[in-house]
Amino acid sequence: MRRVVELPRAYRLLNHGPTVLVSAAHAGRRNIMAASWSMALDFAPPKVAVVIDKSTYTRGLVEASGSFALNVPCRAQAAATLAVGGSSGRDLPADEDKFAAFGLQSFAGSVLDVPLLEGCVAWLECRVLDEPHNQQRYDLFIGEVVAAWADTRVFADGRWITDPALDPALRTIHYVAGGQFFATGEAFDTQAAPPLRG
Ligand SMILES: Cc1cc2nc3c(=O)[nH]c(=O)nc-3n(C[C@H](O)[C@H](O)[C@H](O)COP(=O)(O)O)c2cc1C
Repeated sequence: MRRVVELPRAYRLLNHGPTVLVSAAHAGRRNIMAASWSMALDFAPPKVAVVIDKSTYTRGLVEASGSFALNVPCRAQAAATLAVGGSSGRDLPADEDKFAAFGLQSFAGSVLDVPLLEGCVAWLECRVLDEPHNQQRYDLFIGEVVAAWADTRVFADGRWITDPALDPALRTIHYVAGGQFFATGEAFDTQAAPPLRG
């Protein structure tokens, strides 16, 4: 089940550094790509940063619509992550998109006109905060998170569920290269070490 994540806690969906899928739509076209280079940027209002290369089809949709979504895929979606990260929506016929091409189901954003991918474990709807220099020079987009959602099987009451019995297929994923990922591993709680003196 999907449940709203309160915006001041939205950063927790990304703080552990999962690979995400960037989705966007404009003028009847929609698309989705993989992105390893994304991060939370602020608590409230929550912001995110993501690199969207100039070569990508997604980039044009993000620039034209001023919106994107970060979808957080799980291990069950690793192959789909590689698929949407290794092909371009630009190469598809006008009546097809990557969702259809790879058999991916989507649902509509609650606030923004962004397609969200079914089967992910968290979703952040983001409005672009225009920073032309960063976008042009570093392909770096900053977005304000205006709505966030999570699958209650893995994230509830503002925390990732760390029960070892959790289905491993629901773990988030971290890309390295060459088709290799890490799945999010063991969680543990600790307290700050005391200072050496004083
Ligand atoms: C796991 C993975 C992570 C990626 N991370 C990024 C990223 O952070 N930024 C980026 O611009 N491209 C990244 N890419 C490449 C894009 O996903 C790729 O260029 C994609 O084909 C763009 O699709 P599009 O042209 O349909 O928008 C990544 C690819 C993979 C497989």
